[in-house]
Formats: sequence, structure tokens, C-alpha cells
Amino acid sequence: MAITTAYKARSDAVPLRSFKTKGRRSAIAGIGVYAPDKIVTNFDLEKVMETSDKWITERTGIRARHFAEPGTTTLELATRAAQSALDSAGLKASDLDMILVGTSSPDGPFPSIACRIQDELDAPGAVAWDLLAACTSFMYGLSTADSYIASERADKVLVIGAEVLSRMLDYSNRGTAVIFGDGAGAAVVTPAPEGAGFLSWCLGSDGRGYEQVTCGNVPLGAYAAKEPNPIIDMKGPDVFKFAVDIFIRQAQEVTAAAGISMDAIDLWVPHQANFRIIDAAARRIGLPLDKVAINIDQFGNTSSASIPLALEDAVRNGRVHSGDHVLLAGFGSGLTWGATLLKWA
Ligand code: UT7
Repeated sequence: MAITTAYKARSDAVPLRSFKTKGRRSAIAGIGVYAPDKIVTNFDLEKVMETSDKWITERTGIRARHFAEPGTTTLELATRAAQSALDSAGLKASDLDMILVGTSSPDGPFPSIACRIQDELDAPGAVAWDLLAACTSFMYGLSTADSYIASERADKVLVIGAEVLSRMLDYSNRGTAVIFGDGAGAAVVTPAPEGAGFLSWCLGSDGRGYEQVTCGNVPLGAYAAKEPNPIIDMKGPDVFKFAVDIFIRQAQEVTAAAGISMDAIDLWVPHQANFRIIDAAARRIGLPLDKVAINIDQFGNTSSASIPLALEDAVRNGRVHSGDHVLLAGFGSGLTWGATLLKWA
């Protein structure tokens, strides 16, 4: 198989696909999160690898991240976040029609974490599967939930993003080992109250950029022969440029599709990959940082869990009100991206 090295990490060459939602509108009815107790600070990392708190803080905005203890599964994190989201929505697991789990760090190839959660929570009969769009997985899951509810094939959908990335880090690769953390977040999506819900979407992928962020499959299959665990690798500076660009373009797309101005955004909840990426995009979009949800300092990059972790933090701290326009936006390996504009219920 030919392996391309020509990708330039420029999203402006890619036409973006955006949609105004049609059919029955859906909304987030409840949200829950979970992070393991163990907190690893930058100072802790200084002791095990060649790095410094100063470099990590200045270049990424990260001060600490949560790591699961060895033996803790992604399933455990996901199940705790799921139960919390169900409680916040006032629903029982047996009410669910569908369970979607976005993860890049499943505990094994199969069965899916979604089916394992179904068993843990006792939700037999719901359609359950895992999906993989790296850090964009939660957004792909939300859009799937929205589509099923719009077409009246489901009423109550649980969407989860959960990761134990700490087992995929190599402390000799300082460009990645300092960035990632573990955690889980979940949302229950149901038909929206009048006037609220998801208004528009922008989703896409560009497989030409598959080498930009990888875990174990470049060259394809090689890790299986030599590594006990696949290790995350990425072309950091290239991804940085792609990320700023795709954040800006997604914001433009979803606001245009929803027919609102950028000024009407009350809160932007971006994927927490790097504070400098978020800051650069916010400046170019024209959003002041008090309209941006940022908790990367405490969690690092938790991939598919990062958007629900930041959203829950904003909701819990009273930063989201009924009727607010909330922009959720992610990007990740693949390359993939996904954003939505929603009117908070
Ligand atoms: O969600 C997954 C998608 N991934 C991302 O969004 C990541 C996007 N990229 C980034 O966030 C940034 O590119 C990084 C944080 C990964 C790296 O920051 P950077 O400012 O782009 O650094 P760099 O890779 O250009 O490296 C600059 C310098 C280098 O040293 P020299 O060659 O200038 O002497 C690196 O060796 O910083 C050095 N460096 C470090 N120093 C201390 C790289 N990592 C570290 C480290 N500690 N952890």
C-alpha cells in the first residue's frame, strides 16, 4: 500500500460540508463526567522525562492531567460518566434506545465498550456500538444521535467519549507524552423542547492527513510486531496549524448554516488540545476568552472526552443558560473534524 507523505496539514484545500438540521430537533438533556483520582502535574513529569513545567505551561497551557491507575479500564471511566449523565437527565438506562461510545483507547478490539456499558447499566435492547474518529469521536457520536432522533428512529441516545491514553504514551517522545490525559464524558440526547436544540453541523474527514496523528499503524501494522502497546505519535506543529484553521472554518460554517452571526455565540466549547490553538482561533473568530470554555490546565488533552469535560465544567459553573447559543467544535486524527451550533434547552 502506498503511504503518502504529501499532506500539508492545510484544511483550506478541503471543502467543508455543513448542514442546517432538518426533521425533529434534538438537544442535550443531561451531561456527566468522570476522571480518575490520580493527578499528574508537570512537576511529576519533570521527574520521569526531559521536560519542564515552564515549557509545558507556556507551550500548551497544561498544568496537570488525570491518569488512570494501571489496570483501570476505559469501560470503568465510561460507565461512571454514563451513569452521571443519566442521573442529570433524570432517565434510567432501560429508557435508552441507543448507546454510542467514542474512544481511541478501547480495552480490546471487541466486544465494544458500548455493549459492555449496556451490560453494566442494564439497558438491554438498545442499539450499542463504538465509533472511532479520534478526538472528534464525541462530535461524530452527537451528530449520529441527532440524526437518529431527527428521523424518529430513536428517542433517547447516550453518547460517551472515554479514554485511557496514559497507556499509549512513551516518555521519550516529549512532544506527546506531556499532552494527553485520561477521562470520560457523556451526554444524553433526546427530542428538544420547543425552540431549542442542535441547529447546524459541520463534519468531515481528510484521510490524506492520516499520518499527522497516529497510534501504532504507521507503517501499517508494524507496531503489532514490536510494541506491547501502540504509542501515540504526531507532527505537532503541522497539526497545530491545521487545528487553528479548521476551528475558524467550522465556526464560520455552522453559524452561516444556522443563520446567526459570530457575535451571537454565547459560549464556545472547543476540543482541549492546546491553549495556544484555542486562543489563536478565538482571536481570529473574534470571540473573547470569557466566551470560551477552557479546562485544559487541569485535564490536558483527553481526546474524545475533552468536549464533554469542558462542557460539563461550564454548565456546573453556571456559564450556560437556557436559550444560549453554544458552539461545540473538535478535530483530531484521521484527519477528522466536527462542530455543531446548538441552542441550549
Ligand atoms: O488532539 C490531538 C491533536 N494534536 C494536537 O492538537 C497537537 C497540536 N500541536 C501542539 O499542540 C504543539 O505542536 C506541541 C505542544 C505538540 C508542541 O509545541 P510546539 O511549540 O509546536 O513545539 P515544537 O514541536 O516546535 O518544538 C519546539 C522545541 C523543540 O526544541 P528545539 O528543537 O527548538 O531545540 C522541541 O524539542 O520544544 C522542544 N520540546 C520540548 N521541550 C520541553 C518539545 N516538547 C517538549 C517538552 N518539553 N515536552
